[in-house]
Amino acid sequence: MVSSHLLHPNGPTLSRLIAGVWRWHHTSPQQIIRLIETSLEAGITTFDHADIYGDYGNEALFGHALRLQPSLAGRMQIVTKCGINLMSDKKPGHRIKHYDTSRAHIVTSAENSLRLLGVTHLDVLLLHRPDPLLNAEEVAAAFDALKTSGKVKYFGVSNFTPAQFDLLQAYLPAPLVTNQIELSLFQPQALLDGTVDHLYRLRTAPMAWSPLGGGRMPVDEHVFFPLATRYNATYSQLALAWLLKHPASIFPVIGTTQPDRIREAAHTMQLHLDRQDWFELLRWITGKDVA
Ligand SMILES: NC(=O)c1ccc[n+]([C@@H]2O[C@H](COP(=O)([O-])OP(=O)(O)OC[C@H]3O[C@@H](n4cnc5c(N)ncnc54)[C@H](OP(=O)(O)O)[C@@H]3O)[C@@H](O)[C@H]2O)c1
Repeated sequence: MVSSHLLHPNGPTLSRLIAGVWRWHHTSPQQIIRLIETSLEAGITTFDHADIYGDYGNEALFGHALRLQPSLAGRMQIVTKCGINLMSDKKPGHRIKHYDTSRAHIVTSAENSLRLLGVTHLDVLLLHRPDPLLNAEEVAAAFDALKTSGKVKYFGVSNFTPAQFDLLQAYLPAPLVTNQIELSLFQPQALLDGTVDHLYRLRTAPMAWSPLGGGRMPVDEHVFFPLATRYNATYSQLALAWLLKHPASIFPVIGTTQPDRIREAAHTMQLHLDRQDWFELLRWITGKDVA
């Protein structure tokens, strides 16, 4: 069973594994209800959205499922994102893929997410990508308007460098509660280049997107098979356990579209990697012993 943890001392309590809905777009409402129910039964109560997922369609699909099964909405926390403007038939005004973190766009996007999802508030709203034209005062004004109206409880960012994070934070009265970054055993750079250390210093838990490398797990049987046998675990559980062992309280955002694999991920919470096995996986991915 997946337990819940504080994302930040002054932030929300979310499930330590988060269900990402990016890949849930070729799915019927009944299948989405099944994925939500499977997640909730496993203790995965937090769902990660973005306005753009499924070509601007996933929030509406998810909201449709919640309207069919109204008891579900009160049992979950919703994370969503804004700030990327895609080229899409649904957005005829977009001439080029671009970012928009203007006050008007942030507020309109959050209100649109609320309407499509059919929920009373968003637990966390993230700026999806660092915008080179980001005006921190405008972002602060947008966050203030959304917080004051009760539409969004907490704010964070995604894919920000430590410097970009600090810049925005300097203009905000409340802490950014997360930075959702690409991080896995297969893409460990953020753990090695100071990005995770920076968040850890601020007591801001990272969310790790593509924690299984998006399903591309170039495992080496010589390393993984003995570990999997010893821990009675699958390779994907070893990869998740490697993230969960880090003291910065990483929240992996899993992306599977299969109920069995949601349950498989949830069982990882009982798997505690030994320190030397953690270093063995680090040595495998970096190709060298630590100094
Ligand atoms: N902030 C950002 O910029 C950003 C970027 C990308 C993603 N995200 C978020 O992160 C979430 C997760 O990303 P992701 O989907 O790339 O994560 P992931 O969990 O690393 O990859 C999921 C993919 O791996 C496949 N897979 C293969 N073997 C698996 C196994 N044993 N267990 C589970 N899955 C397995 C899944 O296929 P099946 O469906 O067939 O299981 C699915 O296609 C997204 O849904 C989204 O919410 C955020």
